Parts: sequence; structure tokens; C-alpha cells
Amino acid sequence: MLPWYSLLLAAFAASAQASPVAAADAAGPAITPPPVANLAKRASCTFSGSNGAASASASQKSCATIVLSSVAVPSGTTLDLSDLADGTHVIFEGVTTFGYKEWAGPLLQIEGTDITIECANGGYIDAKGALWWDGEGGSGGKTKPKFFYAHDLTNSVINNFYVLNTPLQAVSINGASGLTITNMTINNQAGDSLGKNTDGFDIGSSSNVIITNSNIYNQDDCVAVNSGTSITVENSVCSGGHGLSIGSVGGRDDNTVDTVTFTNNVVKNSVNGIRIKATEGDTGTIKGVTYSGITLSAISKYGILIEQNYDGGDLDGGTPSSGIPITDLTIKNVAGSGAVASSGYNIVVACGSGACSGWTWSGVTVTGGKTYGSCTNVPSGVSC
Ligand SMILES: *[C@@H]1O[C@H](CO)[C@@H](O)[C@H](O)[C@H]1NC(C)=O
Repeated sequence: MLPWYSLLLAAFAASAQASPVAAADAAGPAITPPPVANLAKRASCTFSGSNGAASASASQKSCATIVLSSVAVPSGTTLDLSDLADGTHVIFEGVTTFGYKEWAGPLLQIEGTDITIECANGGYIDAKGALWWDGEGGSGGKTKPKFFYAHDLTNSVINNFYVLNTPLQAVSINGASGLTITNMTINNQAGDSLGKNTDGFDIGSSSNVIITNSNIYNQDDCVAVNSGTSITVENSVCSGGHGLSIGSVGGRDDNTVDTVTFTNNVVKNSVNGIRIKATEGDTGTIKGVTYSGITLSAISKYGILIEQNYDGGDLDGGTPSSGIPITDLTIKNVAGSGAVASSGYNIVVACGSGACSGWTWSGVTVTGGKTYGSCTNVPSGVSC
């Protein structure tokens, strides 16, 4: 038998359990919290330090301006801003750094529409490439991260962006539609002995891209256009690398290069000045390419090299093939008197049968090196 008061205790326990509800009822209706999903976009968000990258990625959609202030990106992670709201302004302030790890990267990824990306006054990115450089680039030694995937940017701009010492390729522009890059510096000068495959800009499947007033010091292609339409590189300086390149074209998903203009650029202390590489045996199109107002100096191997037998190395693919015609090529006002080393070649044209046509060359002066004796299928009006 339970004593009579055990019933009272049980009833009291039940009422104690229910008491919060009873108290709320007594105080009136609870205040409804603001719905999280409807929070207004914050005007400006600042992220810094070693949590900065993760916090910025997590909050990217809710900030109109993202200030990355001296962010130290942890090793093996991407500073990932690939889900930005339209119109976001991304500002790198202070020095942005990345931890060391052998991995493929990218260290930085930004995608979006109407995006503005820039370094604040005095701000720059230090990718610390020397930690990875071993003279083997992308084909051996340490696995090196690529630096920046500037992918799927639409109507966007990159201004005053300064990056020091990328481990491997610097900027990959892919799927861009309307991207203007102004006053960008890629400074890999410190990699002249051990840096390799440090391409400046690799451009594929993009349209309406302009690179202007930029400086690229590196050890591979300064700019390489693999595919795309309406690409312009102007008023820029390339130093230390492999010059202004189309290609290699062929063997990729997109093998069409149409309307690319290199104008008012300097290529110095480089292996090549101007280079167009079509891979042997593949199909594709290279049309409407213009090089105009190009100043060459200290070119070690080729002043101008146009080849349809590219096979990973220059002129080593055997007989030039015809599957990737090079048409409507304009080369004018190339100033390269004495620019090529005496062991190099001034101009090389290796075209397949009927595969090069509609070329217009004028004011092309490239001297200092040897005359290449074996040009093939050279279009009329071009001396080689
Ligand atoms: C170009 O960008 C650098 C930073 O990379 C900056 O210091 C300089 O002021 C910029 N120049 C102009 C003309 O805006």
C-alpha cells in the first residue's frame, strides 16, 4: 500500500515538469525570434586569421562586401568563395597566406556574377611557392597546389591584385563570360632557379576576357589561351617565362580559339616571344588571332614559333598536321631587333599542308638568332 502522500508527490512532480509551459502562459505569448533565412544581407563582413577562410566560406552568400584581412588559410584547404551572391565585392587586405601541404589545390577559388575582386592598398597574397619549388613543376617531385581557379566568373572584374610566388600555375580562367583583369601582378621572380610550370594565366572556354596593365614574372607561359572567344591581353609585361601563347590547342573538350588579341605588350627575358601550339594529329580551330605592338627582348629560343606538330615539346612532334588550321592570323609591329639569342631561332613556321591561310604580317622585325631553314607550308606574304 502506498501512503496517502505519495499521490500528492506524484501530482507535484507532474506539475513541476509542466511548469515552464505554465510559466510562459502566465507571462503571455513568447517573442518570436526573427526568421534566420530572411536576415538582410550584411553590408560588409570582415574575416581574419586562421579561421578567416572557413568563416568567409560559410558566410559568403550573406555578405555584400567580404574583407579578407590578413587571412592565414590552413594547409590543404581552399579559400573557397565559389558561392557568392551576385554583386559581391571581395577585398584582400594585409597579407593573405597559405599553409604548406603537398596537394593539388587550388589555394583560392572564386566564382560568381558581377563580382569585384581586389587587393586593398598595400594588400597582397603570398602563396609561398618556394616551399614547394623543386625544379620539377607539375611533372614530378612534390605535389604542388595550383593557385587560383577564377572559374565561371560572369561580368566580373579583378583589380590591383598582387600575388607572390605561386607553387605551380597561377590563374586558371575557365567558363568566364565577361571578365576584366586590370593591374594584376604575378611575381614569381624568386622561382627563376627552381620554379617550373608557373603559368601566369591559363584561359579556356571563356569569352570576353580582357587582361590589361598587368605584370607577369614567371617560368612558363605568361598567357596561354587553350580555347575561347574574344580574349584580349594588352599593355602588359611578361618576364622570365615562355611568352604569349595560343595553346596548346587540341585534345581537350574545347579546341576552338577564335578572336584573340595581344596588343602593346612587352615580352622580355623569356624562352619564347610569340608562340602558337597546335598538337599534332588532333582537330580544332585557331582563327582570328592578332599580335600587334609586341616588343621582344632577351628571348633565348624562339622569337616567333608557330607549330602544328606540338607534342608536349616544341618541334618534336614530327610532321606538322592539318587538323587544327590556323587562319586569319595577324602579326604586326613586332619590335625584336637583336632580341633573340644567337643560339635561338628568329621565326619558325611549321604548318601542315593547306592548314595555314589568310595570314597578314607587317612590320615584323625579329633578329639576333638563327634563320630556321625548315619552315613548312608557309602562307604567302610571310617570310620565314
Ligand atoms: C596597381 O596595383 C598595386 C597593387 O598590386 C597598387 O599598389 C597600385 O597602386 C595599383 N596601381 C594603380 C594605378 O591602381
